[in-house]
Amino acid sequence: MPTIMLSDVNICFEQHGSGPPLLFIHGYPLHRQLWEGQWNALADAYQVIAPDLRGHGESESGVSPHTMQNLAQDCFDLLEKLGISASLYVCGLSMGGYIAMAMLRLHPERIAGLILTATRSAADTPEGKANRDKSILLAQAQGAKPIIDSMLPRLLSPKSLESRPEIVQTAHEIMSSISVNTIIKDLLGLKERPDSTSLLAASAQPTLIIHGADDQIVPLAEAQTLQKTIPGAQLTILPDAGHLLNLETPGLFNAAIRQFIRKIPHEQE
Ligand code: MLT
Repeated sequence: MPTIMLSDVNICFEQHGSGPPLLFIHGYPLHRQLWEGQWNALADAYQVIAPDLRGHGESESGVSPHTMQNLAQDCFDLLEKLGISASLYVCGLSMGGYIAMAMLRLHPERIAGLILTATRSAADTPEGKANRDKSILLAQAQGAKPIIDSMLPRLLSPKSLESRPEIVQTAHEIMSSISVNTIIKDLLGLKERPDSTSLLAASAQPTLIIHGADDQIVPLAEAQTLQKTIPGAQLTILPDAGHLLNLETPGLFNAAIRQFIRKIPHEQE
């Protein structure tokens, strides 16, 4: 797999196809493989780029904290190294969605369209922050396993859990490869992330929200709130899909993306 040296880390990434650039940003505690069903299908029309965020997958860890702003800057630095200076489509899942919002905050002129999936605009509540602290203490004391074991059943829809062992295995394999150090850095970054509600409310970018009807980590109501927040945003709800909806229902997920981008006026590409 190609790697590129950014400020302090080698970043591993996928790059497939040609056409308008379409960046996929994975969530916590995952890596680029999450998007295999997207780069395989969408590379016929787009230049698909899917990095391993620092510390995840085959990317190096470096010393910087995993704030959403730092991770967003890594994405821009990667694009610059790849010679992509045009505006692009950005699709982020969950933490990847928070990073997409941080990209919008840093350089709105670079974003031709936003695809926010299994994510929310709000910052962590005090209870949410306390839960991050508990997870950090658990990870420090017992390693990554208890975090992964408790998260796995909540990542997928009941249908996927019952009848799609290959998806359960893929999600487990991806998460099991993430180090405890990365899990702790992600949790700190997630806990400190800013509220992006007013940023999105003022944004002019075409936005598609895709959400799993059975998401147990970010309830559907949060996606409905997100849609009301963002002017003109479209919400597509995928049945029998949970938090990893792109893995669970790739056909519907990819079709929603194609349809969304097709409707965006050409001059914004
Ligand atoms: C993710 O899936 O990226 C995280 O669960 C997001 C979060 O905990 O807020």
